[in-house]
Amino acid sequence: MRAVRIHKPGGSEGLLLEEAPLPHAATGDVVVKVHAASFVPDELEWPGTWVDRAGRDRTPSIPAHEVAGVVSEVRYGTSGLAVGDRVFGLTDWHRDGAAAEYVAVEARNLALMPEALSHVQAAALPLAGLTAWQGLFVHGGLEPGQRVVIHGAGGGTGTLAVQLAREAGAHVIATGRGRAAGVAAEMGAQTFVDLERERFEDVVEPVDLVFDTIGGELLERSAGKVKPGGALVSITAPPPVRPEGGRAVFFIVEPDRDQLAELGRRAESGRLRPHVGAVHPLAEAREAFQGKRGVLGKVVLEI
Ligand SMILES: NC(=O)c1ccc[n+]([C@@H]2O[C@H](COP(=O)([O-])OP(=O)(O)OC[C@H]3O[C@@H](n4cnc5c(N)ncnc54)[C@H](OP(=O)(O)O)[C@@H]3O)[C@@H](O)[C@H]2O)c1
Repeated sequence: MRAVRIHKPGGSEGLLLEEAPLPHAATGDVVVKVHAASFVPDELEWPGTWVDRAGRDRTPSIPAHEVAGVVSEVRYGTSGLAVGDRVFGLTDWHRDGAAAEYVAVEARNLALMPEALSHVQAAALPLAGLTAWQGLFVHGGLEPGQRVVIHGAGGGTGTLAVQLAREAGAHVIATGRGRAAGVAAEMGAQTFVDLERERFEDVVEPVDLVFDTIGGELLERSAGKVKPGGALVSITAPPPVRPEGGRAVFFIVEPDRDQLAELGRRAESGRLRPHVGAVHPLAEAREAFQGKRGVLGKVVLEI
């Protein structure tokens, strides 16, 4: 099959379109004929790109761990899916991803794709949608009427987090670079703070939840803006400072079929809009990775 692979650490320049063996489906897996795939810009720096769960070298690796496609093979132990099903979901970080014509995925990590969604739209949902859902509701405990700051609101995760928080009845304060202001407002943010022009803590009153997708010193500065009883939730690194009387949480997104199905239903009914900033053919995977920074929303590979 055709696949994009990387042979050694060193950045997206190493991504090559090559002939690769068909994926091996293990117990509980399905094989998906990939129609669209997506990624996060820094996944090539993550350990799972280079080693398997036992720490063994697994190069050359296929990146892009969000998939939308059609089930082409079902192995022993698979539940809930059949050949021909349109599916979407998150693939294991320690195995080959979906920048290829086929990928093997544990069936439990996939959900049926709603009829009204295109493969490109569905590929933009799994990682960003599950991360936003788990960050806001599972780890952040967001409730109606609460105030939430979402850092990086113009990004893949941020654009979905703004919509989910707003629909949950929260007051949403979005932050990011100035160019993200329009998208943040379109997604439902009531307030936008341009981080290139002002420090958010100078203009925002304490909130119940800060959901940070940017990290660095912004994460450190955010602890002081969380009310007692509130939470600072990060997806980039463990918060170095705990909010006074509040919680500090770092988490890694987990696959979840029920949450994925709910995200799919909301997207189908128009309640949730995956924001696709750019679509590239598989042959342009390197350009897609390199161009992600600065693109609002998700970048999707169409296979
Ligand atoms: N823990 C987990 O399970 C998990 C899950 C998903 C993602 N992540 C991580 O979370 C981060 C966000 O992922 P994503 O897919 O949402 O990425 P993304 O689409 O690139 O979104 C990040 C957003 O933050 C903005 N941003 C970055 N640095 C900024 C700064 N200094 N000031 C203002 N805005 C800034 C970016 O703008 P520009 O593009 O203009 O820089 C972009 O709009 C990544 O580091 C990713 O690896 C972790």
